[in-house]
Amino acid sequence: MKYHRINLIYFSATLTTRETGRRIAAGMQAALGTDGPAPEIVEYDITPGNAQAGEVMPATGEIALLAMPVYAGRIPAPAALRLTCFRGAGTPAVVACVYGNRAFDDALLELADTARKTGFRPVAAGAFVARHSIFPQVAAGRPDSRDLKAAREFGYRSAALLQGAHDPATLPTPAVPGNHPYKTPGPIPLHPRANRRCNACGACARQCPVGAIDPADPRRTDKTRCISCARCISICPQHARRFRGLLYRIARAKFVKAHSTPQEPRTFLAE
Ligand SMILES: Cc1cc2nc3c(=O)[nH]c(=O)nc-3n(C[C@H](O)[C@H](O)[C@H](O)COP(=O)(O)O)c2cc1C
Repeated sequence: MKYHRINLIYFSATLTTRETGRRIAAGMQAALGTDGPAPEIVEYDITPGNAQAGEVMPATGEIALLAMPVYAGRIPAPAALRLTCFRGAGTPAVVACVYGNRAFDDALLELADTARKTGFRPVAAGAFVARHSIFPQVAAGRPDSRDLKAAREFGYRSAALLQGAHDPATLPTPAVPGNHPYKTPGPIPLHPRANRRCNACGACARQCPVGAIDPADPRRTDKTRCISCARCISICPQHARRFRGLLYRIARAKFVKAHSTPQEPRTFLAE
């Protein structure tokens, strides 16, 4: 089967999911370009609150690559919702989650299930590690060169599998770890706060995926909306925003102690 387009759909607050997804896409492109023109990669960033409306992706000639971070063992709720704006028509899909070295729990299963429910056919799934966006001491420096090599190889193998299949619809579905019903995510009582360096430029308010920061006064965050994704921290030009306070420091010490043993990428292919 020939493919001319890879559609990379991602949610990525602090860009590690985007980086991993792009590397998977590059591996897919390399595999599909071995005997003919390499397919184009088209990106759909569903992180911003005003993310563009979705598309219907045809069953032939295109592959969807869905890349999501893991939040509390699930895919982020706003991302799950925005993902449903995209529809497949039996379109083959590769699904990947990126997690901060604790566990991916039910996130990869939820992503594969969501893909199926919206008309895609997942043929490969992978879980990759990146620095923890709330506790960046955990998995610091990841994805590193080994992670990115594993991501590219996963993309290559997934695409080679599809390319080699006479009819991709006959490929078996990979067994993805996780449980039904999915974990119920508990509240995360940690929210970034600005210090005096904040000059109220409003970049954080414009880029917040859920509109939790007041554009008129960016020092004010609506905690009921905030998903603790840390995007505001990573994009603040003044480096004014951080997780702060005693509760955060206690949680960080416990978390670092419990989850610092490096985890490795895991892949599941319908071979
Ligand atoms: C609200 C929240 C919950 C998270 N929950 C988990 C988790 O359950 N397991 C884990 O290993 N990492 C967890 N992480 C870490 C992220 O999955 C990880 O840092 C990921 O690389 C973030 O992707 P991004 O850089 O694309 O935003 C969580 C991060 C956030 C912000």
